[in-house]
Amino acid sequence: MASIHHSADNAPPRPLLQVRDLEVAFRVEHGLARAVDGVSFDLAAGEVLGIVGESGSGKSVTALSILRLIPDPPGKISKGQILLDDLDLLSLTYDQMRQIRGNEIAMIFQEPMTALNPVFSIGMQVREAVLTHAKISKAEATDRAVGMLEKVGIPSARRRLHDYPHQFSGGMRQRVMIAMALVCHPRILIADEPTTALDVTTQSQILDLMLELKHHESDASIILITHDLGVVAETCDRAVVMYGGKIQEVGTVQQIFADAKHPYTEGLLASLPAMAGPRDEQLYTIPGNVPSIMDMPSGCRFCTRCEHVTDRCRQEEPALHEIGDGQFVRCHLLEPGSKPDSG
Ligand SMILES: Nc1ncnc2c1ncn2[C@@H]1O[C@H](COP(=O)(O)OP(=O)(O)OP(=O)(O)O)[C@@H](O)[C@H]1O
Ligand code: SF4
Ligand SMILES: [Mg+2]
Repeated sequence: MASIHHSADNAPPRPLLQVRDLEVAFRVEHGLARAVDGVSFDLAAGEVLGIVGESGSGKSVTALSILRLIPDPPGKISKGQILLDDLDLLSLTYDQMRQIRGNEIAMIFQEPMTALNPVFSIGMQVREAVLTHAKISKAEATDRAVGMLEKVGIPSARRRLHDYPHQFSGGMRQRVMIAMALVCHPRILIADEPTTALDVTTQSQILDLMLELKHHESDASIILITHDLGVVAETCDRAVVMYGGKIQEVGTVQQIFADAKHPYTEGLLASLPAMAGPRDEQLYTIPGNVPSIMDMPSGCRFCTRCEHVTDRCRQEEPALHEIGDGQFVRCHLLEPGSKPDSG
């Protein structure tokens, strides 16, 4: 299969991260349920890649797999490779993997309170993040922590070192998480719904901050997970659209917004407020619900909700194939030689 890679350029840069045929299953009452099924994508150096899809599509499980943070049991990475340069992260020992976390790949989560320890001060936690990865004195680590907290916009950072997470607002806690993630200059930052819990104004401030730090401080590649295509439009170079544990479409942000091909991507786009008509027009929603991983339909995962569904869709799983210039789609209608149906 051709590489699901950064598009367009004549000589695309070597990917920094390559996820290959990733499969993650959870043990459930009656067997194994596949939450992520054959997911492959690349992340180029310096790139901002969005992973988008409705709740339960496998975005977080994909992200957690990259850091080997899938709870085992009940989960297991049952297949695949995750290559950072040439190093397969799935072959590393626990200690080797600890070196990768923070140093090479850092993660921020939707709700910083789950990642920050409520009983330690902010200063101590950011300083510990520095000390875990750099052999420097405590005083130097404190200075570095203060510097980073200032960069993420914490006012009076040195004075606030002694404050605890609950003394910060949600937006400020997310800034602290970004400081902790970036203080060791990781090459990859994975942000899993980093702004979903915040109000709209704070959301855009945090996204702007991540991009500003990326450009002026770290040049980390970013994987940004979101259910909101609007966020992807504002921040990403390329997007991976997931549904039912599988990639359904991959393309540059321009391809996805100007020329989405997959019925699911089209549905997500039509549900965007900015894409809808006048304000009083009712916002489109994709009919039906995301099926549970215990109850996935056979054939195309989207067949229970797709308005173009045919008998073939219910029987035969479509393959992900390239339709040009780095844009990939998983849909029978878009296979070479298929005629689009009228409905
Ligand atoms: N620890 C777990 N045990 C059992 N099933 C799990 C576990 N973690 C995730 N899953 C299942 O894996 C599937 C994918 O979950 P995932 O968290 O990746 O979705 P998501 O795309 O991140 O959704 P959301 O937008 O709600 O965060 C879901 O059906 C979920 O129920
Ligand atoms: S394969 Fe069929 S059901 Fe699936 S997205 Fe394409 S048209 Fe819809
Ligand atoms: Mg998630």
